[in-house]
Amino acid sequence: MKEISKLLDNNKTWAQNVEKNIPGFFRKLENQHKPKFLWIGCSDSRVPADQLIGVMPGEVFVHRNISNQVINTDINLMCVLQYAIDVLKVKHIIVCGHYGCGGIEAVMKDQTPGLLAHWLENVHDLMERKGKPNLDDMCELNVKLQVRNLALNSLVRKAWERGRNLYLHGWIYSISNGLIHDLCITRGREEHDEARCAAAQRPAQP
Ligand code: CO
Repeated sequence: MKEISKLLDNNKTWAQNVEKNIPGFFRKLENQHKPKFLWIGCSDSRVPADQLIGVMPGEVFVHRNISNQVINTDINLMCVLQYAIDVLKVKHIIVCGHYGCGGIEAVMKDQTPGLLAHWLENVHDLMERKGKPNLDDMCELNVKLQVRNLALNSLVRKAWERGRNLYLHGWIYSISNGLIHDLCITRGREEHDEARCAAAQRPAQP
């Protein structure tokens, strides 16, 4: 059980360091929860939301599942989405996928065990519609599909109808160099918010 007690030891050290660098940090957080961002990412342990974007506790509301799916019948995500939009009043929802995603790869290789095939049906459908692209292209297409699903979601649309400045972003993370690539598919209340940056080029993979 050494590996488990190590985690608790790490926690003590981390809490002490945070308190040393920012005195009163935890006490202050106790009474406020006002993140501006909702992160919808993959469960992959190599893609930890907070660390990648350099934020402290309290700054990003997080939902993660296998291959960062946005499925409108997923009660878990729908509750997170409603809470984020209506209670926390986040301004940005970020769908962040990653290259080399194991869930996407499993679909492409037709190696999805049990429930995973069910969970990733939309990815399977996407792959067939797009003529079986390569893995990295599929990972990007998956993010684009999930941002589209969000844009069609009734919770998001109602927020837009109420005049809320709520923005949807599609990002993809490269495990091999630690960098996030903005897919430039940002959408907001106005249709034209989509074209925030003109030419989205995929960065060279090391
Ligand atoms: Co993944």
